[in-house]
Amino acid sequence: MMKILAIETSCDETAVCLLEAHGDFGSDFAYKVLGNALFSQASLHAQYGGVFPNLAKREHAKNLVPLLEEALRQGSALQQKDPSEPLQGVPLESLHTLLAREPELLEKVIPFIETFERPDIDAIAVTHGPGLEPALWVGINFAKALSYIWNVPLVPVNHMEGHVMMSMVENGSMRSFEFPVLSLLISGGHTELILSREWMQYERIGETRDDAAGEAFDKVARLMDLPYPGGPVISSLAAEARLQGVPLELKFTPPMLNSKDYDFSFSGLKTEVRKVVEANKPLTDDKKKEIALAFENAVAQVLVHKTIKAVDEFDAHTVVVGGGVSANTFIRSELAAKLAGRDASAALLVPSPDFATDNALMIAIAGYFHAIRKDFSPAETISATGNLRLETSA
Ligand code: KG4
Ligand code: ZN
Repeated sequence: MMKILAIETSCDETAVCLLEAHGDFGSDFAYKVLGNALFSQASLHAQYGGVFPNLAKREHAKNLVPLLEEALRQGSALQQKDPSEPLQGVPLESLHTLLAREPELLEKVIPFIETFERPDIDAIAVTHGPGLEPALWVGINFAKALSYIWNVPLVPVNHMEGHVMMSMVENGSMRSFEFPVLSLLISGGHTELILSREWMQYERIGETRDDAAGEAFDKVARLMDLPYPGGPVISSLAAEARLQGVPLELKFTPPMLNSKDYDFSFSGLKTEVRKVVEANKPLTDDKKKEIALAFENAVAQVLVHKTIKAVDEFDAHTVVVGGGVSANTFIRSELAAKLAGRDASAALLVPSPDFATDNALMIAIAGYFHAIRKDFSPAETISATGNLRLETSA
C-alpha cells in the first residue's frame, strides 16, 4: 500500500490529490481517493479567450497551499503541530532558495509547514509536462519544496499518461481490457493517437500538425464571441441544433480525412469557420448553432475516422479516449457507434465525466504506477518540459 500526493498545474487547473493505492496493473490494483481538491481558473482566463500563462502561474502560486490543505483535510491527514514545540529542523533557508522564483508561493508555504505536521505519504507525483512552462514550474517547485521538507521521493509524471490512465480505472479499480490499446488523446494542447502494446509502453502513431482539437473548439468559440473554454459551449449549441433538427446545409471539410497517415490538422477548419462567421455578421443565435453543429460534425468525423482506421490496422482490442475534449458526448457516441459497427470487437474506455478534464487524480494514478517501479527522480533533475512527449523507446 502506498500513499501518493499529486500536484497538477500544467494549464489552468490547479489540483492536488491524496491517493491510497495498492497492487499492480490488472485485477489486484485498487485505489481510494482520500482527498481531491481542484480550482479551475477558466473563468479568469475567459476575458483573454484562452489561457494567459502569467495569470495561470500567479493563480497556481496563490492556490496550491490552500488546495493542499483541503486535500489533506479531506483525507484526515492535516494535523496541527504542537504549538509549544519549537520549530525544529525546518530548513527555512533552503526553502527560500528552492522557491526563489515563486515568492507568492513561498509566503504561503512557510506558515503551512510551520503549522502542520508531515503527512503520512510515500511519494509526491508532479506533472512535469507537457503544458505551459511557467505554470508547470510552480507545481514542480512546490513539489520539490515539500519533498525536501518532508523527505519524500519525487515522481515526475507526463500529463498525457495521466489522461490515458484516468480512462483505464474506475470506482477504485482497474477496468478490464486487453492490449493493444489505442489512445486518442484530445485536449486543449494535444491531439494524438498513441498505441500501447503493453502497460506503460507508448508509440506515437499520429498527431496534430497545427492546432489541437480543444484549441480549435476554443478558437471557434472566440470567433463567435462565445466564452472560453469553447468546448462545452460549442458542444451544447451543436446538441441543441441536433435536437431541433437544424438542416445540415452548412458543411465544413473534415481536415486531412483521407490522408494516408494518422495526423490531424485543425487550423484550416478554423479558417473555414472564420469565413462563414464573417460572411454572416452579425451572427444570429440560430446561425451560431448551425456553425457549431457543422464544426463539431467535421471534428468528430475526422477524429473517429482516423481512430477506427488505426484500430483496424493495429488490431487494437481497446480504445482509450482521454483529455478535455473526451468530455464531448457527440464524439464519444460517434466513436462508440463506429466501434460497434465493426466485425472485431474493441472496448471503448472513456474517463468518467468529472475526470475528463485536468485533475490531480490522474497524476496520482500514473504517479503510483511509476512509484511502485521506483521511477523516482532527484529534485535537481526535474524540470518543466512544455512539449514533453509520451513515447517510450522500443
Ligand atoms: O485536458 P484539458 O482539461 O486541458 C489540457 O490539457 O489542455 O482540456 C481542455 C480542453 C479545452 O480546449 C476545452 O475547450 C476542451 O478541452 N473541452 C471540450 C469539452 N469540454 C472541454 N471540447 C469539446 N467538447 C467538450 N464537451
Ligand atoms: Zn489535459
